[in-house]
Amino acid sequence: MKPLFLVANWKSNKTIAEAKDWLKTLKKSLGNISQEKQVVICPSYTILSDFKQLIFEYGLPFKLGAQDISPFSQGEYTGATNGQQIKELADFVIVGHSERRKHFGESLQILSEKTLRAKENGLETFYCTSEKEETIPQDISLVVYEPLFAIGSGNPDTPESVKQIAQFIKDKSQLKSVLYGGSVNSQNVNSFTSMSNIDGVLVGKASLDPLEFAKIIELA
Ligand code: PGA
Repeated sequence: MKPLFLVANWKSNKTIAEAKDWLKTLKKSLGNISQEKQVVICPSYTILSDFKQLIFEYGLPFKLGAQDISPFSQGEYTGATNGQQIKELADFVIVGHSERRKHFGESLQILSEKTLRAKENGLETFYCTSEKEETIPQDISLVVYEPLFAIGSGNPDTPESVKQIAQFIKDKSQLKSVLYGGSVNSQNVNSFTSMSNIDGVLVGKASLDPLEFAKIIELA
């Protein structure tokens, strides 16, 4: 069965205490999760270690992802968290998010270094792009299509449009999975995930509320 990815991208939000409360509340409100649904939580680095432990203790079938990765291996790169360090705590990493491109000036060259470091360390990359024409680095298996107008705006793209774009990206890059991101919530998630070509969603704002994210998992 093909996995349906339900990815929570918390961005720069939540303290460790807030994150623990979130997980406790989510656990209480979750029913059975059908097998094809792969939930991936991407919190800040500071939260990953506690979450790894808690997810295990709670017996939740969730995986963890980091929101960034150093383009370098270990060494003299102050402030950078490298792939080997991330792999101790997580299985996935987000690369290419439009907020990183905009606020941190990340170029295509940097993004391709990052995806390489991820691969070397056995991490799967959610490669985000807002341009269907963008050349996706090699060895990527998961692309997240996120049109800029839809991110954080409450104005998602239409499922029909995303379906066509997902098909276009798959045909062009011979990719297996294309996810959608941009103003996904519990009301609209199923309109995306029920499309044959859309292999999951990346959820920003709506993932910060545990009850809302539990509904997204249920209704996807
Ligand atoms: P949003 O964010 O769900 O708040 O629109 C999505 C994203 O930026 O990945």
